[in-house]
Amino acid sequence: MTTSSHLTRRTVLTVGSTGALGGVLALAACAPGDPDASSSKPTSAAPSVTDEPVTGTTGAPDAPAVGEDIAALADVPVGGSIDATINGEPALIAQPTAGQVVAFSAVCTHQGCIVAASGDEFDCPCHGSKFDAATGDVLNGPALEPLPAIPVAVSGDRIVAAS
Ligand code: FES
Repeated sequence: MTTSSHLTRRTVLTVGSTGALGGVLALAACAPGDPDASSSKPTSAAPSVTDEPVTGTTGAPDAPAVGEDIAALADVPVGGSIDATINGEPALIAQPTAGQVVAFSAVCTHQGCIVAASGDEFDCPCHGSKFDAATGDVLNGPALEPLPAIPVAVSGDRIVAAS
C-alpha cells in the first residue's frame, strides 16, 4: 500500500462501441453538441490522464490533476449502475465487474431525453430505448447509436472524471 498505488490501480475506461481508441474518438466526435459544457476545445488527443502530473495525493486542496470527484466506488453496485452528473452534465456510471467502472452520457441518442440507470441497463423513459450499461450499446431502439462514453478513472475508492 503506497501512495502511488492508486495510479497503478487507476483504470481509464473508455469502453465505446469499438474499443478504447474508438470510444475516445467517438466521444470527441460527440462533444460539440453542447457549447457550454466545455470551455476549451479538446486537443483531439486522448484524454489527458497521463499528461497530468498526479502527485499521489487525493485530498490536496488544489490538485486538479484528475477530474472532479464523481462518486464512491462503493456507490455503484457491481453489475449495476447509477445516475450521476459529470462536468455538470447528466451521466450514467456502471460497474460491470468489481473495480471496472464505465461512464456514459445520459442524453439519449434518439431525441435527447435523459436516460436512467436501471441495473445492467440504461432505460430511456421517452420512447423505450435501452442501452447496455457495460458498453453503452443499444439493446432496444428506437435509438440507433450507443451512448457516448465519458472517460472516468478509479482512484482508490473514488470514481473521478478523467478529462
Ligand atoms: Fe430516448 Fe427517444 S429520446 S428513446
